[in-house]
Amino acid sequence: MSELLNKNILLGITGGIAAYKSAELCRLLIRQGAHIKVVMTPGACEFIQPLTFQALSGHQVYVDLFDAGANNAMDHIELARWSDLLLIAPASADFLAKLSQGYADNLLLTVALASQNTIAVAPAMNQQMYQDQATQQNLQLLNQRGVLIWGPDEGEQACGEIGPGRMLEPEVLSRHTVDFFKPGQLTGKHVMITAGPTREAIDPVRFISNRSSGKMGYELARAARDSGATVTLVSGPVCLQPPSQVNLLKCQSAEEMLNQVMSVITEQDIFIASAAVADYRPHQIADQKIKKTDETLTLPLVKNPDILSTVAHLYPRPFCVGFAAETTDLELNARNKLENKKLDLIAANWVNDEKSGFDVDDNALSVIWPGGMQELPHQPKSLIAEQLIDIIAKRFLLVE
Ligand code: PMT
Repeated sequence: MSELLNKNILLGITGGIAAYKSAELCRLLIRQGAHIKVVMTPGACEFIQPLTFQALSGHQVYVDLFDAGANNAMDHIELARWSDLLLIAPASADFLAKLSQGYADNLLLTVALASQNTIAVAPAMNQQMYQDQATQQNLQLLNQRGVLIWGPDEGEQACGEIGPGRMLEPEVLSRHTVDFFKPGQLTGKHVMITAGPTREAIDPVRFISNRSSGKMGYELARAARDSGATVTLVSGPVCLQPPSQVNLLKCQSAEEMLNQVMSVITEQDIFIASAAVADYRPHQIADQKIKKTDETLTLPLVKNPDILSTVAHLYPRPFCVGFAAETTDLELNARNKLENKKLDLIAANWVNDEKSGFDVDDNALSVIWPGGMQELPHQPKSLIAEQLIDIIAKRFLLVE
């Protein structure tokens, strides 16, 4: 009953009918040992009185952005610094839209913008508003920035409609909060992940590359972070927002990727190579743009360093995880790579259909290690990443 002992939780409440349920949530969190302070938007005060939360939390409830009585009028900074978690429940469609765009026109938005700690939101709105593309895009953006999205639930709504959009019940939100504070499997461990393609220059404007989007590697970085690890993401050129609280090392070519990897490899416990590194690069990079004079052009290529193999042959070395991108004989080729590169585990994916592998949101993996194997069926890369990190953590903790 004291799983949240001495945790400082800032409970944000926005304008929605589910605001009345937040009183129960506040009570449940306090019962588990948390210190709760409450910030309400003016809209929330239309649904429930601040006095209710003052009585439950034992603290003044914060509503006004411009409170002349506040410390140097700096409530938003003080509250942001104080909290270990900012839990916004209910989070209305309007609030989520403003949060995703960085608005700061009420105290709760200002606190969220000033907060360096984790923010969790529990969406609550009409099912049509929830399913609207604008709300979905706002939630996606927030998720990419590391905001935890808890819910919503499906079912009958206050407006009489049925569908997704109900705020999760207080008991469920309280369980999520407890889980959030539980140490992850990789707490205290350092994990490095390579992601995306490399670009091998031909001349100042052309390069050789591949279709990797970096999605698989970025989702792995997010999942490793959520498991408690300190994550270094070594990324080739991609158009993705890096997950929050992850150290990002950027690179273009395979040689640059190798240099970035080697610069901090001795600090790593686990190395995961999900990048699609170009196997070859042009022997020479032309100083000037190559002219279109001849009918054919031959470019001599030389082999790039194998980054994964280099790391796996270090002594001492981190726990090494490779990927295998195959168009034939998936398992056979993956097992050969596992053995030849001296890996601890390999995740093999087909890359010859449009539903998984390169540059799509989903994937399916055959995960193989010496003496074992597990299939991860076709699903979004975010879920595949969570399951793969779970397998890696368990294997790593066994051999550590
Ligand atoms: O980025 P996405 O669009 O999300 O796509 C994800 C993915 C398909 C790129 C990913 O799931 C994947 O399969 N990554 C590995 C791609 C690859 O290069 O596979 P490979 O079988 O050619 O290489 C085997 C392993 O050696 C890989 O772990 C690779 O990172 C590593 N390698 C390869 C060559 C090299 N010079 N250095 C390496 O480290």
